Amino acid sequence: MGEAVRVLAVLAQHPELELEWDEWNLGADRFLETGVSISDREFQNLADDYDAILLGALGDPRVPGNEHARDILLGLRFRLDLYVNYRPCKVRHPRYSPLRDPAGAAMDVRIFRENTEGSYAGVGGALRQGTPEEVAIQEDVNTYRGVERIIRAAFGYARRHDRRRVTMVDKANAMAASGALWRRVFEEVAADFADIEAQAMYVDAMAMDLVRRPDHHQVVVTSNLFGDILSDLGAVLAGGLGLAASANTHPGRHALFEPVHGSAPDIAGQGTANPMAAILCVALLLDHLGWPWAAGRLEAAVEAALADEVGTPDLGGDAGTVQVGRWIADHLTDDRTLWERQTDE
Ligand code: IPM
Ligand code: MN
Repeated sequence: MGEAVRVLAVLAQHPELELEWDEWNLGADRFLETGVSISDREFQNLADDYDAILLGALGDPRVPGNEHARDILLGLRFRLDLYVNYRPCKVRHPRYSPLRDPAGAAMDVRIFRENTEGSYAGVGGALRQGTPEEVAIQEDVNTYRGVERIIRAAFGYARRHDRRRVTMVDKANAMAASGALWRRVFEEVAADFADIEAQAMYVDAMAMDLVRRPDHHQVVVTSNLFGDILSDLGAVLAGGLGLAASANTHPGRHALFEPVHGSAPDIAGQGTANPMAAILCVALLLDHLGWPWAAGRLEAAVEAALADEVGTPDLGGDAGTVQVGRWIADHLTDDRTLWERQTDE
């Protein structure tokens, strides 16, 4: 996150980018000391006083139940009703993709993951725990309103970004009740977007298809759990979790940007974590705040680093976290297209 902030600080010098931020510590240290992951007041403060939240990866082995990370991440998603989890999976340089098929280079899938219900709703319970008769029930919650708004977000995005195909992913052949709802709502919404091809697929087939014809899918819309799984698959096909950024939004209200990856405790303190996913979150944030041109320059800077083989060990490189962050920051500082942009106002 330090490197993402470094990049943000460079961009904040641009006369057209009005950026101000506060830094908050919601780390596991604080939780272990105080028992508070995030307070109600902090939730309220985030909801009321900020245009966007940039969140670092969470998770610490000293909190084995992961309740600190869950409280904050799932807490923010649910309490701010951030129903869109937008996860672009784009091959930025073929060297980093495990796909051997040259079609892989053209992979650029935008996943719209429902982010407030499904199997993550926390509905369920257990009985006779710890006995051979134990029962564990985890309900999959799908509401008309919840399904409709994420599907509409996906189609709206496709139309705004000139994408011709939206694929809805479910498991209607085995999970009939939720499948029927998703398929009916998908057809309903698709009728409002007659210019866009609408396709429904089972999630197992989609997992295969992402590998088999990675360039085919453009916009994918799916439930919370399927989106979680497919976005990791999409991330690794696109170059690894070290490059995967996401936007959690309630359009028109709140926005939170976070890397798709976790906190990589196995390499903690070594200075080798890949900062690119966090930096690409800044690009999503700039786009969200209305500066797509700046987002584009930042993406170009990351792509230049990839092309020059400036990367951390997860990418097969030997650069450290700070070295990669500085390289990208310097590249932006030297980017004449960025600084010579004419103001049209
Ligand atoms: C993600 C993560 C989270 C999720 C975990 C940490 C609860 O895997 O953002 O994809 O499953 O949503
Ligand atoms: Mn995940």
